[in-house]
Amino acid sequence: MAKDETAKHSGINTRLIHSGNDPHGYFGFVNPPVVHASTVLFSEARLMASRREGSQKYTYGMRTPTTDALTSAINELEGSAGTIIVPSGLAAVAVPLLAFLSAGDHALIVDSLYNPTRRFCDTMLKRFGVEIEYYDPEIGAGIAASMKPNTKVVFTESPGSNTFEIQDIPAIAEVAHAAGAIVMMDNTWATPLYFKALHYGVDVTIHAATKYPAGHSDVLLGTVSANAAHWPQLMSSSEALGMCAGPDDVYQVLRGLRTMGVRLEHHQKNALEIARWLEGKHGVARVLHPALPSHPGHAIWKRDFCGSSGLFSIVLSGGGEQEQLAFLDALKVFGLGYSWGGYESLAVPVFIGDRVIAKGPYEGPLIRLQIGLEDVEDLKADLERGLAAVAALS
Ligand SMILES: Cc1ncc(COP(=O)(O)O)c(C=O)c1O
Repeated sequence: MAKDETAKHSGINTRLIHSGNDPHGYFGFVNPPVVHASTVLFSEARLMASRREGSQKYTYGMRTPTTDALTSAINELEGSAGTIIVPSGLAAVAVPLLAFLSAGDHALIVDSLYNPTRRFCDTMLKRFGVEIEYYDPEIGAGIAASMKPNTKVVFTESPGSNTFEIQDIPAIAEVAHAAGAIVMMDNTWATPLYFKALHYGVDVTIHAATKYPAGHSDVLLGTVSANAAHWPQLMSSSEALGMCAGPDDVYQVLRGLRTMGVRLEHHQKNALEIARWLEGKHGVARVLHPALPSHPGHAIWKRDFCGSSGLFSIVLSGGGEQEQLAFLDALKVFGLGYSWGGYESLAVPVFIGDRVIAKGPYEGPLIRLQIGLEDVEDLKADLERGLAAVAALS
């Protein structure tokens, strides 16, 4: 079997380790070169004048052997026709929306989405004349009632940011496609390992590679992958916008990808153990983790996903901001900081903000936990400190 064929039939960790570059194409070095480039020289003027596709593999520093190594690894994981690399996860949201929406179009956007995505929709997209409508994350096939003749994009994110609602992606995709709309998904939480977005009807899948692919809280990067029908427009829009990322960041993410499978397994195991333990704790009203049978979206999660990552939220039993902040300030192992997907545990206060539908009800304040790779008993002891600080207030 050829190397490519062997890779396609291998297990996920084998693919994570071997996809993207061919060591024997670069003197046998295991890792691809980090190519710092703007100018690429042509051997003959004829090649420059022809500007023919394929006249020379690399023509400018936007595309290099380093970016190719990452995009082909992601294409293999996603099953996508092509992938672009952009400087952050938020850019990975903005670029496809700009690529596929025009003035006069209507876009249906899930209400439980990453809040900066909402800001992008409510500011830039509205300014460019796109009609934005937010929908209930639990709407499923009911989204049919919101489709309009000018609906061009249905944007999904599952689980929802901070509140972890699970969307019925196949049902939504069926309705959207029947109406001629494109389905996009921010699939950062599950990664392509735990949710195969393109197999479930998504056309364009988005990742903040800053999170699990990078895995070490030291780099920002985004990827956007598309199926064959949507790849040409995604690629040409990204080129028109001049979107690219620095080679060191691209390399860092490819390096992170090699261990993402084993890291995710450990995040999953630690997070599930802590989520189950928190469910029985005095002071915790609810644990918002889709892999728990108590979660309202558990059945759909179980049907479509093949794993869960390390991010979930808890709802405290009553109280408000004072309790929320007391819990967080008592933590010694969990850091207080934004982002997630790195090796270390983090906690943040959740503010529902300007959502219009997916606002609760919740019994008390919400706290989002990113469960890292530390020893689980140390994390439990830390969370006990948080709960004790809340109890001490009453
Ligand atoms: C679901 C989701 N999408 C996108 C992003 C944006 O990623 P970045 O921080 O790389 O811009 C985040 C960041 O927290 C996120 O949680």
